[in-house]
Amino acid sequence: MPATLIDGKAVAAELRAALGLRVAAHIAKGKRAPGLAVVLVGDDPASQVYVGSKAKQTREIGMVSIEHRLPGKTSQQALLALIASLNADPAIDGILVQLPLPSQIDAEAVIEAIDPAKDVDGFHPISVGRLSSGGKAFVPCTPRGSMHLIHTVRRDLSGLHAVVVGRSNIVGKPMAQLLLAANCTVTIAHSRTRDLAAMCRQADILVAAVGRPRMLGAEHVKPGAIVIDVGINRIPSGEKSKLVGDVDFDAVMPIAGAITPVPGGVGPMTIACLLENTLESYERRMG
Ligand code: GUN
Repeated sequence: MPATLIDGKAVAAELRAALGLRVAAHIAKGKRAPGLAVVLVGDDPASQVYVGSKAKQTREIGMVSIEHRLPGKTSQQALLALIASLNADPAIDGILVQLPLPSQIDAEAVIEAIDPAKDVDGFHPISVGRLSSGGKAFVPCTPRGSMHLIHTVRRDLSGLHAVVVGRSNIVGKPMAQLLLAANCTVTIAHSRTRDLAAMCRQADILVAAVGRPRMLGAEHVKPGAIVIDVGINRIPSGEKSKLVGDVDFDAVMPIAGAITPVPGGVGPMTIACLLENTLESYERRMG
């Protein structure tokens, strides 16, 4: 039997609709709308697209989107000054600085300057620490979205073996923390892992977050496994280009129990979870 297709686009739309209702309920009580500030430095085309989509979806659910688009030569000092003003602004519940940043700016210093109470990306060391020690933390959006998708096909993950391929701060490491918190046995595999295929074949849940087109094939997947493909890779296709994941979808589909497509899987969940984090920040801040 071919795998169940996990429709991230539909799950994200449902989540946004539910968030929109929550926002409307607050506004109906006479409260202000939640506010999300997104900061983009420079003119990287992919980042421009992300930031535009974030702003549009923020407004669609009734929240306020404030965008700061700064020139590529912006100094670190100027960026830190902007963050300080956003930290102090009571109408802002979430602050996101789009990565990557230009080379004259120290991304770590910028992330650490964000008020942890507004760190809706979950990248601040306080958020990272809280996540690993089981505290109430903002969870990075892509792993949070991936967990939502896993839960659409399986509620109880207790005792399952999860293998996360990739060890980035944005996806691999926080994903492993979330799976651990859900009582999985967790392995983090990466480019130096020996016999990656044999390791991956042990996985009841396989999460691919390496950024290499179609790297995981049939030989990496145990029959019936839940496969979550975080990769978004642009590859040439005839005259044009197309998006593919880190998983060879056509090869894995007949083996897996459930799988996310690319596009339309994890991708749409990321912004939906950013909005979810922003609304949670608002609800915490408003008491
Ligand atoms: N660049 C790519 N993904 C992300 C993300 O989730 N957050 C931020 N701030 N920048 C990114």
